[in-house]
Amino acid sequence: MEKFDLVIIGSGPGGYVAAIRAGQLGLKTAMVEKDKDLGGTCLNVGCIPSKALLTSSDHFIFAKKEAEKHGIVVGSVDVDLNKMQQRKEKVVKTLTGGVRALMKTNKVTTFEGFGTITAPGKVSVKSSDGKTQEIETKNIIIATGSAPIELPFAKFDGKTIVSSTEALTFTEPPREFLVIGAGAIGLELGSVWARLGSKVTILEFLPRIAVGFDLELSNLLQRSLTGQGITFHLETKVSAIKIDNGRVTATATRGNEELKFEAAKVLVSVGRKPFSEGLGAEKVGVEFDEKKRIKVDQHFKTNVDGIYAIGDVIAGQMLAHKAEDEGIACVERIAGKDGHINYDAIAGIIYTNPELAGVGLTEDQAKEKGIDYRVGRFPFRANARAIANDDLDGIVKFVADAKADRILGAHILQHAASELIAEAVSVIEFGGSSEDLARTCHSHPTLSEAVKEAAMNVEKRALHILNR
Ligand code: NAI
Repeated sequence: MEKFDLVIIGSGPGGYVAAIRAGQLGLKTAMVEKDKDLGGTCLNVGCIPSKALLTSSDHFIFAKKEAEKHGIVVGSVDVDLNKMQQRKEKVVKTLTGGVRALMKTNKVTTFEGFGTITAPGKVSVKSSDGKTQEIETKNIIIATGSAPIELPFAKFDGKTIVSSTEALTFTEPPREFLVIGAGAIGLELGSVWARLGSKVTILEFLPRIAVGFDLELSNLLQRSLTGQGITFHLETKVSAIKIDNGRVTATATRGNEELKFEAAKVLVSVGRKPFSEGLGAEKVGVEFDEKKRIKVDQHFKTNVDGIYAIGDVIAGQMLAHKAEDEGIACVERIAGKDGHINYDAIAGIIYTNPELAGVGLTEDQAKEKGIDYRVGRFPFRANARAIANDDLDGIVKFVADAKADRILGAHILQHAASELIAEAVSVIEFGGSSEDLARTCHSHPTLSEAVKEAAMNVEKRALHILNR
């Protein structure tokens, strides 16, 4: 029996990045993956294919609605969805193939099959042909990710009641597309199909969209998406779904009112649950919390020696980059180094147009914590590059400690918010102040100047603004 220093179960961004780091640190490492392709949900049916479709559909809208303003004459514009989907598949293949190459380079052995822990230090891998292989190891990292939550009255059938996985593969835009849940998945996939021609209606239980993000920016995003033709029903709880002749009828309640919605397809995007059961973890005595997440200490160690867990399967935000950094920190600890994570400096992003990005405390969270804070805002309509780009939607908003001026939170709504937020993440990671950022020279003309101006406006001294 082959003996490893580390066996990682799951090859998503948490697992495969942990495997690379382990290889770099000289640990004899194996990674077990049940699916044929490496990369997990993110690369195969999540972050990556959704971004491919978001980009393609965004280009379509540009060609159809915006190009003319730039003096570009394109004639009639159409979508070849088949080709769009093929491009998406190619993107996915490039990246999953890349992960396989990275495993080779870093001398990580990959096992294809379902991994279960049979005892501390023992993992059994069952491949699709029914054969099993036993692996011995000093350490195990569980990095098995998460799966979509099903509504009890609306089991996924993959055709009419779909999860994000199928909503990435439609061969034609559904005439009416009903989305339950206005979180990242609902808003991103709702955007894709609205752009490609579906009549999209999003039902959300809470009185707001994009929960977890700053309310002011979430409300602005809702206004933009409404302008793009998406209909929102907030404070609307779906209680039943019926399928009749391939058509969906959803029953929902808003206050005392009962509402009915008809559609060709319904996407259930009401959250994801940890993929923690059936892995043998419970049999070897690993403890779980009330949400079936694996309990770990600050170094990702479970209550069982030699067994660790990272990513969506433990508590915290379900984000690929959080899983990656946890994977690195966990492996560094195993190798006797000093890995750590700063959870205050992990950004969340929704890749709509405009994109919504946020890191650290929202204004409401600062209020709830009783922190004496100041806010600095700057709108992109006052930024030279945004005007040149004709991309005026959105603002930058900082929440800073009133006395120490330390930046506590940064929130950006803009077409390129996912890239712009990185600067704020760095400043927060270094414990920087709004003044630090305001005194940093930003190139002109760039969108990042709006970030600087919002930081300046914590002291009400933004330059290019008529009304501070
Ligand atoms: P979510 O938890 O972000 O949002 C689900 C929404 O559904 C909530 O607003 C909730 O109030 C609502 N809801 C729940 N039950 C409902 C009902 N019966 N009727 C109406 N509304 C209901 O979940 P989502 O969007 O499915 O995403 C799952 C996870 O994946 C999240 O943790 C998310 O952060 C992550 N993710 C992140 C992405 C990104 O970073 N861009 C992209 C996709 C997913």
